[in-house]
Amino acid sequence: MTRLPTLSATEVLSDRLLLRKAHGADREGLIELFTDPEVRAYLGGPRPRSDVEQYLDAVGTANATSKPGSYVIADSATDRLLGTLMLDRRSAERPGHVTEDGEELELSYVLRRSAWGAGLAFEAATVALRAAADELPDQPVLVVTQTANERSLKLAARLGFRHGSTFEEFGAEQTLATARLSSFKA
Ligand SMILES: CC(C)(COP(=O)(O)OP(=O)(O)OC[C@H]1O[C@@H](n2cnc3c(N)ncnc32)[C@H](O)[C@@H]1OP(=O)(O)O)[C@@H](O)C(=O)NCCC(=O)NCCS
Repeated sequence: MTRLPTLSATEVLSDRLLLRKAHGADREGLIELFTDPEVRAYLGGPRPRSDVEQYLDAVGTANATSKPGSYVIADSATDRLLGTLMLDRRSAERPGHVTEDGEELELSYVLRRSAWGAGLAFEAATVALRAAADELPDQPVLVVTQTANERSLKLAARLGFRHGSTFEEFGAEQTLATARLSSFKA
């Protein structure tokens, strides 16, 4: 099956942030995102550092965000990695959909612990969704997050996503929230 499109831009700029593709200097930041117990609390727990290193060696750090719609969130002044953002397609085989065929756009975000509490995930998501709304036809966008992940649910609500449904996946209750892509147009 041909993959449905997502945001095609390789760079998106906002006031404080640059969404860009990964490069070699992001390695330590990416390792932290996968190994920090607080960051990974609702993402299946921290991964062993050696596994993450092996993974980055195998794919190459610069290829970690090679998929369309996948970005490093960097500080626009220093270029330091603050997190990652993905606007991907939610596979029809997984639970949690709002259309019959599935494959909806799905937004996900991860920030380093030191970058929480400054509105940076909100800013990154807003600019990515705005760019996607300028490029793609109107359609639903999903955020799916563990129901226990209050920060993520608060962010989704602030972005304008509305509660859709709950279901079980990965042994935990997930909450699906949804918004129309066109609502993010500038
Ligand atoms: C989910 C996650 C990205 C949210 O990060 P966040 O910093 O709380 O989110 P926001 O960017 O919306 O920032 C909101 C906070 O910044 C504060 N803030 C400060 N300056 C701000 C500004 N200029 N604009 C907006 N908010 C601002 C807000 O008051 C709010 O603080 P509060 O939560 O203490 O009330 C982060 O907790 C995370 O990385 N979690 C682990 C990964 C994860 O579980 N991801 C979900 C998978 S989809």
